[in-house]
Amino acid sequence: MAQTWTPNSWRQKPIQQVPDYPDLAALDSVEARLAKYPPLVFAGEARRLKSALANVADGRGFLLQGGDCAESFAEHGADTIRDFFRAFLQMAVVLTFGAQQPVVKVGRIAGQFAKPRSSGIEKQGDVSLPSYRGDIINGIEFTEEARVPNPERQVMAYRQSAATLNLLRAFAMGGYANLENVHQWMLGFVKDSPQAERYRKLADRISETMDFMKAIGITAENHPSLRETDFFTSHEALLLGYEQALTRVDSTSGDWYATSGHMIWIGDRTRQPDHAHIEYCRGIKNPLGLKCGPSLTADGLIELIDILNPANEAGRLTLICRFGHDKVAEHLPRLIRAVEREGKKVVWSCDPMHGNTITLNNYKTRPFERILSEVESFFQIHRAEGSHPGGIHIEMTGNDVTECTGGARALSGDDLADRYHTHCDPRLNADQALELAFLLAERMKGGRDEKKMVVNG
Ligand code: PEP
Ligand code: CO
Repeated sequence: MAQTWTPNSWRQKPIQQVPDYPDLAALDSVEARLAKYPPLVFAGEARRLKSALANVADGRGFLLQGGDCAESFAEHGADTIRDFFRAFLQMAVVLTFGAQQPVVKVGRIAGQFAKPRSSGIEKQGDVSLPSYRGDIINGIEFTEEARVPNPERQVMAYRQSAATLNLLRAFAMGGYANLENVHQWMLGFVKDSPQAERYRKLADRISETMDFMKAIGITAENHPSLRETDFFTSHEALLLGYEQALTRVDSTSGDWYATSGHMIWIGDRTRQPDHAHIEYCRGIKNPLGLKCGPSLTADGLIELIDILNPANEAGRLTLICRFGHDKVAEHLPRLIRAVEREGKKVVWSCDPMHGNTITLNNYKTRPFERILSEVESFFQIHRAEGSHPGGIHIEMTGNDVTECTGGARALSGDDLADRYHTHCDPRLNADQALELAFLLAERMKGGRDEKKMVVNG
């Protein structure tokens, strides 16, 4: 890969998962318009995220990454964004308490619109139509008209991302994320939430600590870290024409950055080393994610790491492992050993969603116990290998949906029909997401105690 990189050098490479736009002139004109629009995020912010992730790679932090499988135009609204952000903050607070380490917060939001598909065709009864590829490309309705890729959707996705980001920035910096509000974030709990009592107890302890700190002069007024939080955005860099239009030179460093989101990732279906998606991503300086599924060999992983992170910079690359609860023990150790042997600096993150999808009563769902089981195995394997289980990557919402079975409320296959709203894959609801955070916090606390025992003994 010694060839020169440019924002459009990916166009010379083979590519998977491209939509079939019928009107290429219209596509060109949209991309030219987008190329003139303001960046959504800034290079300095992406660098800040990279240095936070460098600490995670070094074992001094934890990455919490999550949000919708696919954002939709239909569900765009302030309440949805607020509910997501609140559930995400609750998780982050629980994890910070458990890990006693900084939690790096990265949403799958403000740009997560394009979806890779296993099949290009969706069949319902006798009718076959092109698959839905995310609201940035075509419509979810099962009609011929909706499924035609329409480039104008890219402009709508850009505008929705800008509006979402604007609200998120206000929530993160404008007082909503103030730790003094830790009890107010409870307002989102649905009645009789099994996690509410657990969360209230933790919030009490945080408030008590805040009162103590206030007594010795440390307050939210004089310590911004108590009243503000760093929140970053991420999405899969799938629709490369859109990404290219938002790729800009940073005037400070002269480097190229994707300004569509702080972190972007490469999906499990588009990580061929000589193909377009890897080509695009290698040239931009943002922190990158790489999805690692069962078909990735150890040599294949090292080859990709060498392409994407030739200088072996900590924080540049996050490996998002998504094997499935029954496959993680087979695949994760060989990848960890190769990475350790080669001395590569990476963040190890666990995506317990994408390898655990099943169909039940005609709904795509994920059993909560399989999600937990993959996370547990991920932690155990890292402890055994001596590497740092650095993060979690989940599909979740702040709303009370019924998309994944199980959890403390024991959602069954029959409950799925009640509130199944996702535009793509099934998400954890707010309760299930928090339950997962409590479990993770316990595991991380366990890891700390083990380390202490090793040090002391
Ligand atoms: C996703 O994260 O929504 C996704 C499609 O993941 P993967 O590429 O791992 O299948
Ligand atoms: Co998904």
